[in-house]
Amino acid sequence: MNAFVRIFVFSACVSLVLGSTAKEILSSEFIDGLSEEWWGPSGEEKNASTCITPFRVKMADKMIKDLRFRIKNRREVTPPLEGAAFQYGFNSDELDYWMDFWANHYNFTEREAYMNKYPQFKTNIQGLDIHFVRVKPQVHHDVEVLPLLMLHGWPGSVLEFYEVIPIITEYCEHNGFAVEVIVPSLPGFGFSDGATRPGLGVIEIAAVFRNLMHRLGFEKFYVQSGDFGTIIANQMVTLYPEEILGYHTNEPFLLAPNVLIPYVAGSLSPFEQSLVVDPALADRMYPILKIFLGAMEETGFLHVHATKPDTVGIGMSDSPMALFTWLTQAVSWASRSSNKFKHDGGLHDLYTPESIIDNIMYYWSDNKFTTATRLYAESFNLRTLGTGIESIPTPVPTCTVHAKDEIIYMSPAMLKIKYTNLLSSVPLDNYGHFLAWEAPEVFSRVVIDALVEFRAYHAKNKNCNHNEF
Ligand SMILES: *[C@@H]1O[C@H](CO)[C@@H](O)[C@H](O)[C@H]1NC(C)=O
Ligand SMILES: *[C@@H]1O[C@H](CO)[C@@H](O)[C@H](O)[C@H]1NC(C)=O
Repeated sequence: MNAFVRIFVFSACVSLVLGSTAKEILSSEFIDGLSEEWWGPSGEEKNASTCITPFRVKMADKMIKDLRFRIKNRREVTPPLEGAAFQYGFNSDELDYWMDFWANHYNFTEREAYMNKYPQFKTNIQGLDIHFVRVKPQVHHDVEVLPLLMLHGWPGSVLEFYEVIPIITEYCEHNGFAVEVIVPSLPGFGFSDGATRPGLGVIEIAAVFRNLMHRLGFEKFYVQSGDFGTIIANQMVTLYPEEILGYHTNEPFLLAPNVLIPYVAGSLSPFEQSLVVDPALADRMYPILKIFLGAMEETGFLHVHATKPDTVGIGMSDSPMALFTWLTQAVSWASRSSNKFKHDGGLHDLYTPESIIDNIMYYWSDNKFTTATRLYAESFNLRTLGTGIESIPTPVPTCTVHAKDEIIYMSPAMLKIKYTNLLSSVPLDNYGHFLAWEAPEVFSRVVIDALVEFRAYHAKNKNCNHNEF
């Protein structure tokens, strides 16, 4: 046991060392500079508009016609290996069903109306037109309204939150507050502009979204996230801790070396005595080799995205079938790792076919695969990770929820190294990576519970301060 204590002390020291270099890198000049960077075409800085313009998704006839033409004229695919399901990737036996559904049964008019069921806007932040959904609760003006920024990831979109929005924005008197949601498309995704030049990674996007919230009149706000949204939100709570009132994530996940030290240390003791993880959840983290090999088997796409997004993007923007399979195979795997043993990738068990294609349309319509996927290359690099920013602790009150089949599990003991005010971590015994999409009611409930906790936390801390004077 002493050895473990020593390893914990060692990991704490490493985090202090990394933390202090990171703080030097994250000087106030660095942080202020992030908000000033210009990602649009050069020369337009002086003309930047601060208008907030209503936006509607428009599925143009020309685009639909072209899409149907491409689907209809697709080449014949190579049959899957005998007996294979999704182990080698998307099972090509499934493609006729999906391509026929997309071209002949997916009702573009109806789905466009669905995508436009909430107010949407665009506003220019640092040279990028950022698309966002904004839904205010229907409440009397004396009800407190909490602003909640919700961040999606790859290969998702704002649509992941569509079934959640009405639940979260519905006023429940006994909570004592209502919620307003702001759901942006990440830069380069959906209907948000991608950058014109290199360098727009998760740290830089954190500044873009903080500027977006300021533009909308929110100096302080709450954040909810999963997937890449979480990596962005991690930067927001580190760079702007005084502005983020509470942070909820359904994929708590840190790219920090100091968090990995207790993880590795924890593998050396019997799980039933672990200091690192609740024994009942140990199989979500250990054995390391199994978890590591499982990740290696499934995340080749990540390495491609992080190195040559433009190459893979060429095929994706030319072929609806390629785009569909690349994104949807990732949806299948991230939803349940066991889905690869199912002939249909388990897609029909969890999602409606419409919602699967809706999400693909968010990449196809505006030809956004490449700009979206560059996010990996702009974030998983030395410039970003070398700042050590993920190792810097943040005092922002944080709540996490852990779906059973989430692609990664980090225990509260690990998460507390960064989130020093981790208020709660809720393990679920079901569901996967796309919690909002798959289980909107469960997701909404845990988010509202977290907001209740954040408010109680602030109320308590306010009282403490009063007592001091
Ligand atoms: C700036 O705006 C003015 C007036 O709208 C326009 O004439 C000019 O071309 C713009 N300049 C740039 C660099 O976009
Ligand atoms: C598509 O949906 C619209 C609106 O609900 C409806 O009017 C139209 O008939 C549908 N088209 C087809 C081909 O079903």
